[in-house]
Amino acid sequence: MENFEFSNPVKILFGKGQIANLKNEIPDESRILLIYGGGSIKANGVYDQVKEALAGLFVIDFSGIEPNPHYETCLQAVNIIHSQNINFILAVGGGSVIDATKFISAAACYKGADSWDILEKHTSIAEAVPFGTVLTLPATGSEMNSGAVITRASDKNKLAFASEKVYPKFSILDPSVTFSLPAKQIGNGVVDTFVHVVEQYVTYPANALIQDYFAESVLKTLLLEGPKALQAPHDYDVRANLMWASTWALNGWIGIGVPNDWATHGIGHELTAFYGLDHGQTLAIVLPGVLRVLKEQKAEKIIRLGEQVFGIYNNLSHDERIEYTIQAIESFFEEMGVKTHLSDYGLGADAVEAIYERLKSRGWKLGEKRNITADLAKEILLTRL
Ligand code: NZQ
Ligand code: ZN
Repeated sequence: MENFEFSNPVKILFGKGQIANLKNEIPDESRILLIYGGGSIKANGVYDQVKEALAGLFVIDFSGIEPNPHYETCLQAVNIIHSQNINFILAVGGGSVIDATKFISAAACYKGADSWDILEKHTSIAEAVPFGTVLTLPATGSEMNSGAVITRASDKNKLAFASEKVYPKFSILDPSVTFSLPAKQIGNGVVDTFVHVVEQYVTYPANALIQDYFAESVLKTLLLEGPKALQAPHDYDVRANLMWASTWALNGWIGIGVPNDWATHGIGHELTAFYGLDHGQTLAIVLPGVLRVLKEQKAEKIIRLGEQVFGIYNNLSHDERIEYTIQAIESFFEEMGVKTHLSDYGLGADAVEAIYERLKSRGWKLGEKRNITADLAKEILLTRL
């Protein structure tokens, strides 16, 4: 195991009815900006629950955060924070609303000339407006981590930043608010969670057994519960297991002390930025390609994944075990309703070329061995036509 330092300060309030406890977590004198998305919280009753829980406090609404949140929209919220002397933010929504809130909270306190530098140059963040979250879509883990991904719509740039200043103060996870998710978002969330685990687990062995067994437990939970959520959308226990799985997949714990990959996410973000695919869809396309093209580098962990999670055992050659494991992952994504090829989304070789050019201009070297250049990314995508 590699050395690490780690702390995760996010308080979790998990379970039915926890939104009612919101007020206990927010200082009385707060001037609150309530940030949400396109209106799902109004349709499913979450908005009313939140407003009731905040009764008597000063609250201004800011709605309209897009999926894959826009930098341009975030700047409008920053202006409101300044003009209304906001000193606490409440994010109510999925990863996009929470990520937007992280950026808004940092940008509102940013002293530099251009807050885009937080994303492009990773300038350090000295201060951020404190915020809490009410999660409505289990997928990103943003509710219990310090990262965010923001898109500048004007030039199709989707970039990430992380800072310990943007951990939520608390996150409320009530699985029953996820009953209203459309099937597409259930699938996306399960795929995203699955890929978060794989990016921290299917690298090369680091003899980190705690992390490996935890990673496998999250994956097994997804395999068991994901399809059930599609078949029985109002099963509370299924939703609870999926919600806690997605938080665990990216709250830091399984990724410490081990190599991390993140190439699938790096390539996937470009697909979203250029073609508007959902985050989960991009990952379902890219991951099988990364695993096939890097199968020797990742062989030991792919075989371990096959054995521990999918029950792919002996009497098979080394190559068969790897290939059957990758096929099992593809089948699972398809079972969750998330298509796994570029052509399923109307994309072809032109798209591969565009992503290649973008990655070449970025000059990134991705993957746990930093060997995934633009050329290798192109090779990966060409296996996914
Ligand atoms: O906008 P509203 O009306 O709320 O509708 C949303 C949105 O249309 C809807 N939705 C959310 N909860 C719902 C619901 N509909 C019905 N019932 C509910 N309970 O679902 C749609 C998608 O929401 P979004 O927040 O965009 O999805 P997700 O949580 O998958 O977030 C995706 C964003 O997170 C980033 C992605 O890149 C993408 O921008 N990520 C953030 C990460 C992080 N901070 O650690 C890591 C991830 O890898 C990811 O990159
Ligand atoms: Zn993700």
